[in-house]
Amino acid sequence: MRERYGPIYSSNYYIDERTYISDYDAMVEAFRDPEVFRTKGSFEAFETMFGEDNITVNDFEVHTKGRNRIMPAFAPALFPQYMGYISKRARKTWERVHERSSAGEQIKLEPVFRENYVAIVVEMTTGIDMDGENAARIRQLFQKFLVSIFSPKFGPVRNAGIKSRDTLMGIIAEVVRKNLRERRDEINKLRGYGDRIMRMGVKEVAVGNVDILLVLMAESSLSTEPGAAIDEEVVESLCYIILLLWFAGYSTSAATSTCMSFEMGLDDSIFRRLVAEQDPIVAAADGVKNVTYQQLMNEMPLLDSYILEILRARPPVGVLGRKVSKDIEMLGYYVPKDTLVFLDLVAVHLDSKLYPDPHKIVVDRFVKKEGKPKPPGILSFGAPGSPHYCIGAALAKVMMKTTMGTLLREYSYVLDKQQTKEYQSVPDISPKSGVVLESFTKRDH
Ligand code: HEM
Repeated sequence: MRERYGPIYSSNYYIDERTYISDYDAMVEAFRDPEVFRTKGSFEAFETMFGEDNITVNDFEVHTKGRNRIMPAFAPALFPQYMGYISKRARKTWERVHERSSAGEQIKLEPVFRENYVAIVVEMTTGIDMDGENAARIRQLFQKFLVSIFSPKFGPVRNAGIKSRDTLMGIIAEVVRKNLRERRDEINKLRGYGDRIMRMGVKEVAVGNVDILLVLMAESSLSTEPGAAIDEEVVESLCYIILLLWFAGYSTSAATSTCMSFEMGLDDSIFRRLVAEQDPIVAAADGVKNVTYQQLMNEMPLLDSYILEILRARPPVGVLGRKVSKDIEMLGYYVPKDTLVFLDLVAVHLDSKLYPDPHKIVVDRFVKKEGKPKPPGILSFGAPGSPHYCIGAALAKVMMKTTMGTLLREYSYVLDKQQTKEYQSVPDISPKSGVVLESFTKRDH
């Protein structure tokens, strides 16, 4: 797009006229300048569906306040705790796929990833067991809720989505109340913990079995005194946050993993190189199941690079909206006040001046090596250091490395020969023909 239309262009293709930015530096500037590039008013549905105070559609104080409430739950010191939920789910996911495949069923990986990551985000944020009695209902309600976000504001689909949202909020509120009854001591132990991690760099968590909601509750003003009145406004805001995390964390990770599995299915050399990185880790670990958090973080540079490469070439959030607060000039173009600007991540990531051979998936593009020029960082999570930069970026990598790492260490698969190489970008970026498998087998260790 950039080559064809220039760094800033307008289009009225499919929807009302929008202005797009497809220049890397201009885009980073836009990400980092909330004074001019506001999120407020950029996407109506987020305000309706996640509450007016939600961080994705607010700037300045409201945004900072909201973000500061959430950030402690995303401190890396807590990741080993969350990993318990993530690795257990990833193992179950692949065991089930193997069982189904062994029973003669043809496997499609896209729905597998969707199920996996819905379960991960729900379990990790609330502790709700996604094999338990409420699981099917939660999946169904969540699906209705998601579809409605991208549907017209005043239609039956949106109304059904709002109903589903309210039911989901009721389910989450029940967990809050249960935690207040049954996990009072854990919440008390976690109180002030955010401050300790963020300001003093505390690296370990003494409490076991922590989920994100528990940390958010400890950070909130909810009283844990037995019999104390429950502040329903605080409960409601916690429910909105949890729903936002489900939404933000699930489809992005599922789309990225789908594309990863597709590309490594098409190109066996990618698959083999990634497996070759995992094998010594398996040999050094205490059995294939016991890969440690340290190994996950420090010993998988190729898998790290591959995730970034897929996020570059197939960004799950392809464009991001901002609203311009005053008349500006950018790269010689006049952009009037109130213009809705789309930051075109897809175009930037395919700029051949930044990423040579941009349409090719280069598995080690982001592996650091002395003497090798470093490509510019990708913008799939936003621009590092900018106000709205993805809160879950680091955790998303843990989720994807665990899910994909478990697959690489323990299983092998072959894509169905009928597969086409084409992609579609709606509703999420994904291979047009799905990721259909011819076989899915267990590896010998
Ligand atoms: C591959 C995975 C992911 C991708 C590509 C991704 C991408 C993004 C992008 C592009 C933004 C907007 C940045 C901006 O407007 O400047 C964002 C924001 C956000 N993400 Fe992610 N995300 C991912 C996973 C997650 C996960 C796992 C979570 C949490 C469980 C999460 C939580 C959030 C939240 C809460 C925000 C709003 C931040 C704010 O407005 O201040 N994301 N993400």
